[in-house]
Formats: sequence, structure tokens, C-alpha cells
Amino acid sequence: MTTPVIAIDGPTASGKGTVAAAVAKALGFHYLDSGALYRLVGLRAAETGTPLDDGQALARLAATLRPRFEDGRITLDGRDMTDAIRTEEASRLSSRVAVHAPVRQALLDLQRSFRRPPGLVADGRDMGTVVFPDATLKVFLTASVEARADRRYKQLIGKGFPATLTALLQDLRERDERDSKRAVAPLKPAEDAYRLDSSRLAIEEVVATILHWYAMTAAG
Ligand code: DC
Repeated sequence: MTTPVIAIDGPTASGKGTVAAAVAKALGFHYLDSGALYRLVGLRAAETGTPLDDGQALARLAATLRPRFEDGRITLDGRDMTDAIRTEEASRLSSRVAVHAPVRQALLDLQRSFRRPPGLVADGRDMGTVVFPDATLKVFLTASVEARADRRYKQLIGKGFPATLTALLQDLRERDERDSKRAVAPLKPAEDAYRLDSSRLAIEEVVATILHWYAMTAAG
């Protein structure tokens, strides 16, 4: 029997990271935050002066990436990158490197290596469409752009960072556009994905819904 995978895809700030980590914890599964890999490639590119339009050079860099995910921390070559990858700069860099097919190809094996017993919950943009097309359960998690901007706003203000709703709305719209219009692995639901709009749901309700779907899928 193959190791089960729950693929959770969706746009920026749909809450998929929080949801995926909670689902993984509830089931005792491993968790892959695939966006973190693109963020690490972006940061490493900036550090090494690799041009963001050189897909082949970026792919070589991606192919040597050996990140460690432990206890909610992410380290790369012994350096703790957990906070660095969450900056706006890392977001910007990651969405630039993610458009290159060779970079996406170079990260495929690394992403698939996280599929280990007893199971994996993976979140990103193309988990159900490209990386784990045979996933046991595929979820496409959405939320209105207003709900997402509102969540991000509260998150930033809570951490003491300056933020305005108008700027966040515009930024999310631009990122949605870039993620869904790119030629390679654009953000779109897999045909067999369950869709869930979390705009009016609490995190716990989203997690419970996914666990219920998984129980049904695993039983059937
Ligand atoms: O989920 P995130 O915000 O951490 O993702 C960062 C960037 O990486 C975002 O621009 C989309 C891209 N990405 C991707 O192209 N494919 C994935 N599986 C995950 C993220």
C-alpha cells in the first residue's frame, strides 16, 4: 500500500499552512510546507547574486537545497531560516523563482521525499495537480480576497508590524494574478479536488471538515 498523502492547495493567505499543520498533527502525519522551499530558493538566490530570470542557474541552486524541518523550525546548512522566509522580501523573491519550469522540476524529488509512513499532509499550489497527482485526498482551500486580507492584517498588527488593509488587498490581488496566470503549474484546483471556502469558517471547522473527508476517503 502506498503512503497516504493529503494535498491542500490554495491561494496566498487562504490559511492552508495553519490548516495543513493542524491536520498533520491530528493524524500524526508528516507535514510539507512546499512554499517554504520556494522561499528558501529565493533567499539563496539573493545571497549568491543569482539572477532571478536565470531559470537554469536557479534550478542548480534548488537541486542542492537540503533543508531540515524540525519542531516547526526550518534550517538550511545549520542556519535557522524560520523567520527569514516569512519576510515580504522572501515572498517577493519566491514568487519570482517559482515561475521557472527548471526550478519546479528541481524541487520535485525533494518534495516527494517527504512522503513517508504513516502519511503526509502537503500544502502549496500544485500538490494535487503536479507533485502528488495520486494523493489520497485533494483539497482546494479558498477564501475571498477580503477575508484573506483581513486575516493577514490581524496577523501583522498582532506581531507589531505596520499594515494597511488597502495595501494588503492590492498585494493579494497581484499575487493571485501572478500565481494563477503563470505558464507553469498555475494555481488551479485538481479536477478531483474537494473545494472548501473558508471565508466564514473558523480554522477548527476547516480542519474538522478535512479530517472528515479524509476519514471517508480512507474508509471508501
Ligand atoms: O505558500 P507560500 O506563500 O509560502 O508560497 C510562496 C511562493 O511560492 C508563492 O509565490 C507561490 C510559490 N509556490 C509555488 O509556486 N508552488 C508551491 N507548491 C508552493 C508555493
